Amino acid sequence: VVDVKMAEISQEVLQGLDTVAQAKLRAAYAAVDNHVKDGQVVGIGSGSTVVFAVQRLAQRVRDENLRVICIPTSFQARQLILENKLVLGDLNANPVLDVAIDGADEVSAQLDCIKGGGGCLLQEKIVASNADQLIIIADYSKIADYLGSVWKKGVPLEVIADCYVPIMRKLEKMGGKPVLRMAKAKAGPCVTDNGNFIVDCDFGVMQEPAKLEQQLLSIPGLVETGFFLQMAVKAYFGMQDGSVKTLD
Ligand code: 5RP
Repeated sequence: VVDVKMAEISQEVLQGLDTVAQAKLRAAYAAVDNHVKDGQVVGIGSGSTVVFAVQRLAQRVRDENLRVICIPTSFQARQLILENKLVLGDLNANPVLDVAIDGADEVSAQLDCIKGGGGCLLQEKIVASNADQLIIIADYSKIADYLGSVWKKGVPLEVIADCYVPIMRKLEKMGGKPVLRMAKAKAGPCVTDNGNFIVDCDFGVMQEPAKLEQQLLSIPGLVETGFFLQMAVKAYFGMQDGSVKTLD
């Protein structure tokens, strides 16, 4: 993990943000400044950290006349792109992305990630897998030695709604502790942008996530996992002391 040099961020932008939000902002700004160039197709991830990345991108588009096409990973990302007056594209019109910038729930020392805390893992993985570079942006609380040591809510798994019960039984047999994710108001299950359910499955600390992911993907009806293994090329972490560190 090394320190990264970055442009001065004005107090005005940081005003009113707590330490964690400031760390997210710094990581997001550093990633956008270091990885986005004129003429690129850029994947826009989901979550609270990505909000700052989109704000910075919009600022650079205004100040530097940067021309970029943004590919969303969720309904939230799509709205962010539009609200910030960026150019919205899609994967079928723009199948090759130069870079995707996304948040994470946990990042291991090997740069493996758990994502899907916001329920957008499937589209996030599709977009990331079509990008030349996946850049992760996060605050210091996401840094872990091994997956499962910091993020205690379990691995998010996107499943077909019609078969979540048999899938949960299979997950239990594999030694996991599955929980069907409920919507915020607890009125019913959390439904993804693709119309599926999310099961969060706790497997404890995972030293061999690749093996586990293969087992999970062999379950019919389990559409995608929140493991992003060997996909990211670099992670930017905003730290408590105001610095930004990178891992690659
Ligand atoms: C959404 C995600 C997010 O990127 C992840 O949950 C991190 O979110 P935040 O930036 O709010 O901490 O994977 O599905």
